[in-house]
Amino acid sequence: MALITVRNLALGYDSRAILENLNFSVNMGDYLCIVGENGSGKSTLMNTLLHLQEPVSGQILIGDGLKKNEIGYLPQQTMVQKDFPASVKEIVLSGCQGRCGFRPFYTKEEKKLAEENMERMSILDLKDRCYRELSGGQQQRVLLARALCATRKILLLDEPVSGLDPRVTAEMYELIAELNNEGITIIMISHDIAASVQYASHILHIGDEVFYGTKDDYLKSKAGTGFMMKKKGGVA
Ligand SMILES: Nc1ncnc2c1ncn2[C@@H]1O[C@H](COP(=O)(O)OP(=O)(O)O)[C@@H](O)[C@H]1O
Ligand SMILES: [Mg+2]
Repeated sequence: MALITVRNLALGYDSRAILENLNFSVNMGDYLCIVGENGSGKSTLMNTLLHLQEPVSGQILIGDGLKKNEIGYLPQQTMVQKDFPASVKEIVLSGCQGRCGFRPFYTKEEKKLAEENMERMSILDLKDRCYRELSGGQQQRVLLARALCATRKILLLDEPVSGLDPRVTAEMYELIAELNNEGITIIMISHDIAASVQYASHILHIGDEVFYGTKDDYLKSKAGTGFMMKKKGGVA
């Protein structure tokens, strides 16, 4: 069985669907990019996969021993989050919360895990710094380390490179690719179609036209060629 199987899913707000008939599955080791126009429902889909939001109808099945609280998540950045007044260490540690619900303290193992993930993201030297004083790229590394505290299996990333300059964007993509090579399954929302087809194994394109399949099939599909042309023309 796949890690995540989505069957006839409809999602939206107040029982009104903004997207229907979604069917796809994510297997261990996959790198799935979710692409589509602004407002097409990408973040809504991610929130629904995370059970932060009820589906309008349909099913999300999890398998391969994955538990609901074993999913690492890097949310789409908001201005409020950018100004969050906490230390790097505190933010990374808060990724351990999902393991046993809310507690005001952390165990020795959790502190060790946070330390390991800061080391992994090369931000250990920033651990006592205030999050809001960091650069955009450093902040994203902090959020990645935080997401890694929640999981060894799967990361959901909502536009992890938005607002980053090209050099830092490339570094971020390399980091994510390394994590995928280490066996972590990636589901990433992106509006960067060139990077999506470079790194992903599978593409889910949502909008008027829905496509799910391998990257190679996407490049040959109507949805894929149409979207790529539009992006190249600078419309979206
Ligand atoms: N909390 C909400 N309540 C009602 N509608 C919402 C809410 N959040 C987003 N929407 C609407 O749902 C649609 C999809 O939004 P979203 O999932 O954020 O798109 P994307 O991430 O692809 O840009 C948009 O039309 C948006 O206006
Ligand atoms: Mg979004």
